[in-house]
Amino acid sequence: MRRILVTGRGGQLATGLETALPARGFEPVLVGQPEFEFDAPETVAAAFDAAQPDAVVNCAAWTAVDAAEDNEAAAFRANALGPALVAAHCAAHGIPLIQVSTDYVYDGRKGAPYLETDPPNPLGAYGRTKLAGEWAAFAGNPHTLVLRTAWVFSPVGSNFLRTMLRVGAERPELRVVADQHGSPTAAPDLADAITAVLARIRDTGWQDTYRGVFHATGSGYTTWHSFAEAIFGQAGGPHPVVHAITTTDYPTKAVRPADGRMDGSKLRETFGVALPPWEQGLTRVIRALQA
Ligand SMILES: NC(=O)c1ccc[n+]([C@@H]2O[C@H](COP(=O)([O-])OP(=O)(O)OC[C@H]3O[C@@H](n4cnc5c(N)ncnc54)[C@H](OP(=O)(O)O)[C@@H]3O)[C@@H](O)[C@H]2O)c1
Repeated sequence: MRRILVTGRGGQLATGLETALPARGFEPVLVGQPEFEFDAPETVAAAFDAAQPDAVVNCAAWTAVDAAEDNEAAAFRANALGPALVAAHCAAHGIPLIQVSTDYVYDGRKGAPYLETDPPNPLGAYGRTKLAGEWAAFAGNPHTLVLRTAWVFSPVGSNFLRTMLRVGAERPELRVVADQHGSPTAAPDLADAITAVLARIRDTGWQDTYRGVFHATGSGYTTWHSFAEAIFGQAGGPHPVVHAITTTDYPTKAVRPADGRMDGSKLRETFGVALPPWEQGLTRVIRALQA
């Protein structure tokens, strides 16, 4: 197992995998729009023909959570029909698929960190379409592993960290919600974890216990407000006052889970893989941004 097809080139996670995979002896083949487009199934077939991959990490997705509310059909094509297509090609090639999913499949009402056995109940279009994508990936390919992650940030792309640093440089005061709980996840750390999972599959061959859902986030839990404070604390220099507000003070089109904390024990026990504490991930990404 050597050649890994990575979809969503240019996205946060795919960019991380481009660096992480070669470090463990894999050859990444990144594909992205416009020549790889879920709405044009022939481009997906062409990517498999050209790459002849040994495994696939499907990072490509409609990730605009609020915009999905008004565009659920388009989000469904990317987040559910896309994985269905990818899974069908993986099955035809007899290769494993890692499908990346989200904490937004949960409603956030459990009051404790979620286990993979807890029932999903998405609150919005993004979560619904991503959950459908999980089912499609499982239905289409027997060798499917779904990794649910959350609050992804990286030196590239559109994410909370980069937004905070941008608006924090422009304004003396910011208001950030303090009643939503989760785990920030550095894309380079998640890419390392996915690479470690692939290395385990390469070493052991596919095992029945690998098929299923796994949680994969930065270790530890926080709120968006505390995350913002940590961002400015680690970035150094002058920074704005960050006021704690509630979700009702900051209405958004999509309803988000108030408490999407996920337990990562299953990933650790099955693959020996745990992501570093989210604060370490933050240091890693800020260093990359400042380099
Ligand atoms: N970001 C988060 O906080 C977060 C949280 C939980 C889970 N996840 C999941 O983690 C995975 C990676 O997320 P990310 O943050 O790396 O995403 P990202 O930076 O938004 O990148 C997503 C990529 O998907 C591509 N894409 C979108 N629609 C497509 C289509 N119809 N056909 C082909 N490619 C398409 C985009 O291409 P263009 O750039 O050309 O549009 C982009 O390169 C996704 O599955 C996401 O759902 C993300």
